[in-house]
Amino acid sequence: MGSQWTKDSVYRKAMKAGYRARAAYKLLEIQQRNGIIRPGDNVVDLGAAPGSWLQVLRDLTDGRVIGVDLNPIAPMEGVTTIVGDFTDPLVQERIREEAGGVVNVVVSDASPKLSGQKSYDQARAIGLGEDALAFACTILKPGGNLVIKSFQGELFGELIAEVRKHFYAVRGYRTKASRKGSAETYIIAKNFKGTCDGAEGPL
Ligand SMILES: C[S@@+](CC[C@H](N)C(=O)[O-])C[C@H]1O[C@@H](n2cnc3c(N)ncnc32)[C@H](O)[C@@H]1O
Repeated sequence: MGSQWTKDSVYRKAMKAGYRARAAYKLLEIQQRNGIIRPGDNVVDLGAAPGSWLQVLRDLTDGRVIGVDLNPIAPMEGVTTIVGDFTDPLVQERIREEAGGVVNVVVSDASPKLSGQKSYDQARAIGLGEDALAFACTILKPGGNLVIKSFQGELFGELIAEVRKHFYAVRGYRTKASRKGSAETYIIAKNFKGTCDGAEGPL
């Protein structure tokens, strides 16, 4: 990563506070403004490397915290990490086992490697969001919460409409820590209806 990405004030603040990435402040803000995680919740973090969201999650709950990423995540006390693709059924099975059958919250900051081609990158990011939703629907407890990283653009409306079919309260949320000019928007979904019925596409 070049200096454009490494030297902003949020990055410096994160490093000083001992977080593995500046993204920690995005989840802290999401939590502060939306109350997604409750003490005792079991939480699954999709696309978790290098692990700053896991650090925040570990502080927010005494429940199980499980992080999954294509890339290895350096060990963290009290956190289970899995290397793999969260869309892979075998990886999903492993997550289920580690969660001990109950998952209250799924958070996904997963994003594809960017090509620089805007509409292509947006389509792939939305696809990952759909994958996160599909998996969350199979693992979340009724009443559970979901956060999905997404990007404003032509397909965003379709994704958020799909999320609305499965959760009682849904909104798009831009964090202050998101980079200036970025289309990054998180979908905050609360109170899972408890069913995958009525789903379209990959669900
Ligand atoms: C922006 S980073 C996540 C940062 C993380 N929230 C943190 O705070 O440290 C996005 C991550 O998504 C991961 N990722 C993308 N697609 C994935 C997939 N299908 N399965 C697992 N991880 C994936 C990437 O490897 C990358 O590490």
